[in-house]
Amino acid sequence: MATVKFYAGESFPLEMHKVRIIQKLNLIPLDRRGKAIAEAGNNTFLLHNRDVFMDMLTDSGVNAMSDRQVASMMYADDSYAGSETFTRLDKSVKHFFGTKYFLPTHQGRACENILSQIFVKKGYVVPMNYHFTTAKALITVNGGTVEELIIDEGLKIRSDHPFKGDINIDRLNQVIKQYGPAKVAYIRMEAGTNLVGGQPFSLANLAEVSKICRAADIPLVLDASLLADNLYFNKKREAACKDMTLHEIVLKFAELSDIIYFSARKLGFGRGGGICTNNEEHFLKIREMIPLYEGFLTYGGMSVREMEAIAVGLEETLDEDMISQGPIFIDYMVKELDKRGIPVITPPGGLGCHVDAKAFLDHIPQPHYPAGALGSAYYIASGIRGMERGTLSEQRDENGEERLSNMELLRLALPRRVFTLSQVNYAIDRLIWLYENRRLVEGLKFVEEPKILRFFFGRLAPVSDWQTKLIAKFKQDFGDSL
Ligand SMILES: Cc1ncc(COP(=O)(O)O)c(C=O)c1O
Repeated sequence: MATVKFYAGESFPLEMHKVRIIQKLNLIPLDRRGKAIAEAGNNTFLLHNRDVFMDMLTDSGVNAMSDRQVASMMYADDSYAGSETFTRLDKSVKHFFGTKYFLPTHQGRACENILSQIFVKKGYVVPMNYHFTTAKALITVNGGTVEELIIDEGLKIRSDHPFKGDINIDRLNQVIKQYGPAKVAYIRMEAGTNLVGGQPFSLANLAEVSKICRAADIPLVLDASLLADNLYFNKKREAACKDMTLHEIVLKFAELSDIIYFSARKLGFGRGGGICTNNEEHFLKIREMIPLYEGFLTYGGMSVREMEAIAVGLEETLDEDMISQGPIFIDYMVKELDKRGIPVITPPGGLGCHVDAKAFLDHIPQPHYPAGALGSAYYIASGIRGMERGTLSEQRDENGEERLSNMELLRLALPRRVFTLSQVNYAIDRLIWLYENRRLVEGLKFVEEPKILRFFFGRLAPVSDWQTKLIAKFKQDFGDSL
């Protein structure tokens, strides 16, 4: 998005694209929303999309594609082995990261599975700036532990730190000393840290981590799934990156890392994923796993149409107009809410607007899942589905005790180029109403709790009849409005 000055003084996000294909949306009546969330076990993952007005669950695989991406899907070359499509993707990924090797996978967690199986053993540790749900689950399944070493500022809701995703270098040195470098499977740096508000890390921080890794002979693994947002913030907030092109920043990231993996549901706006490296030894070990778990080396579980779209999507990631839309809309939403005293993570990050449910619903104890309750209440109030990113998204410890999350967030993702500003204004309006009526909202309890990744398909019930009261108040305030 370009910097355009408005004559009236106040500025607002200005899209550098036009919409040429649309999908009709449905805002179902309030009583039906109440029923739908109950049927979904108060888990927004289990709602049917036909019952959802704005789907702000995630940006994964739901970003709008460009005309060039859709067009590229038409000339996909369908063959099991050696397709021209793969050759194009291979060239595009290697150009993007400047790496020698690329191995395709069916999505981001497939890369995490393979890397965990190769590098993680019982008693090993993986230090990281912050965990992602699937990354952590796959490390622990293989007998490893995760050490989260994000800087203190990263866990503060309100901050003006430009790079809250940075790792704490002193603590990293301590952890390496404590376990010994041989027990450190690898160090994982996640671009645009997903679970703590889509916050970026700085190039300077990555450079320091890389230096430590190289001195201790520990592989540095970069999770580049949310790289596009991170890149935008490097360019805007880091003096050393101001005069670099986006591609120069990516190449620098890659040069500092030993292995890069990504979910192409996010990076490249398609489906799938992949692993890149310059290290032949790593490449050969990883390559053995691809046909076992993913598919042949020239598709790795992806469809040829998606591969074509990713190749174009990567090219477009280097265009600032293309990658700025998400962060600029998020910036608008966060600031509008913040102005009205609604607790949100600041500074605005990537991925979405993150509402602090601990403060929003400070009367709900964490074991009653305030972020889950906020997600359920917000769906009733608006027909919008967000995602719980708090204690529900954690796993219980080895003794079955609840592990309380550092943050209780309701994430309202802003898939890129999908929503209009008036829709974002509606999302803000309903959140303002809910904030004024927050005391009506109470907690949730599990009625069905899966052992692993419980947030995906666990089912919960309200601890009281608070949802009935919330619906009654909505009718009182809005009459027969949807
Ligand atoms: C930072 C990060 N890493 C890994 C993944 C896993 O990717 P996938 O959903 O493609 O398996 C995600 C998905 O949301 C992510 O955000």
